[in-house]
Amino acid sequence: ESYDMGGHDTYMHKEISEQPEAVDRVLRGRIDDRFSTVHLGGLNLDAREARGVRRIKILGCGTSYHAGMIGAQLIEELARIPADAEPASEFRYRNPVVDPDTLYVAVSQSGETYDVLAAVQELKRKGARVLGVVNVVGSAIARETDGGVYVHAGPEVCVVSTKCFTNTVVSFALLALHLGRIRDLSVADGKRIIAGLRKLPAQIAEILATEGDIEKLAGEYAHAKSMMFIGRVRGYPVAREASLKLKEVSYIHAEAYPASELKHGPLALIEPAMPTVAVVPDDDLLEKNRAALEEIKARDGRILAVAHQPQEKADHTIVVPKNETELDPILLGIPLQLLAYHTALALGRDIDKPRNLAKSVTVE
Ligand code: AGP
Repeated sequence: ESYDMGGHDTYMHKEISEQPEAVDRVLRGRIDDRFSTVHLGGLNLDAREARGVRRIKILGCGTSYHAGMIGAQLIEELARIPADAEPASEFRYRNPVVDPDTLYVAVSQSGETYDVLAAVQELKRKGARVLGVVNVVGSAIARETDGGVYVHAGPEVCVVSTKCFTNTVVSFALLALHLGRIRDLSVADGKRIIAGLRKLPAQIAEILATEGDIEKLAGEYAHAKSMMFIGRVRGYPVAREASLKLKEVSYIHAEAYPASELKHGPLALIEPAMPTVAVVPDDDLLEKNRAALEEIKARDGRILAVAHQPQEKADHTIVVPKNETELDPILLGIPLQLLAYHTALALGRDIDKPRNLAKSVTVE
């Protein structure tokens, strides 16, 4: 992959389109079928050390923070290590308790984001072990961390991150699988996740082939002044990232909420002029999510669902291919990148350089 636009009108479109190859690249050479695990050469954490980890704390900003939220869920699901993500920008200012049994993971596309770098430096000063999940090889965060996983998304030029988000989540799936297989993830589950990972590039290509339909949907929603994005558990970080993408590139106001929190306040906003994008995976929470759609419909809210099967209560559903439940967030996010892109295009925005934003925020 290069800096050449390769026939695309924007880098954002180019980078969204590159995702099948980018995911293929992050997997390449890392899967070990013999032991149903993955090898992460630069991790610098041996099996004994990995088994001693009691908690994982993931730190990043913006899209990288959202990828970290999904990463924390993957680590809890596959490795059964308590994990959570926090914006690095908040963490560094709150004099955090640095725990020797916690493994810290700094996430960054550029590897230069000052808030993340400052968090890493503070952690190192306090003796913590910090890994990086970073795209740019040799960047400041890659150099300051003790080891880590390169995301291999290739160069990302558009200010708005797309392919790096996807590759970062896949990198977390690899890390979670690796840690899981050192701890108590079964061979069968290891095989199942590996098979799911291998399916991703073709499934992403399948989603990208529906771009024409998503473009039409973007036309339907582009005139909204404000949009609600909801998801539950695995769907929630997907909803957050999709709402950030839409805000950044189209300047439409967007709120992201856990679907479970709707009734605790944001339901008051629902009316015909406030459409909702609902992330509705086919998982054990499907019925709960359907109930949330009913609540929205009862208030005459329009609904665009992203789901594994058409949703009766939704005005429109973008159907995405099903993978292993743990990996579903990776695919659910992709049509919403295209939705943000086509909405911005319909509104004539400066897609690769949204106002007020810089690709990497290297200052305080
Ligand atoms: C992504 O669309 C954003 N422009 C922004 O939130 C970005 O993810 C954030 O600034 C962190 O950047 P990094 O991944 O390079 O550290």
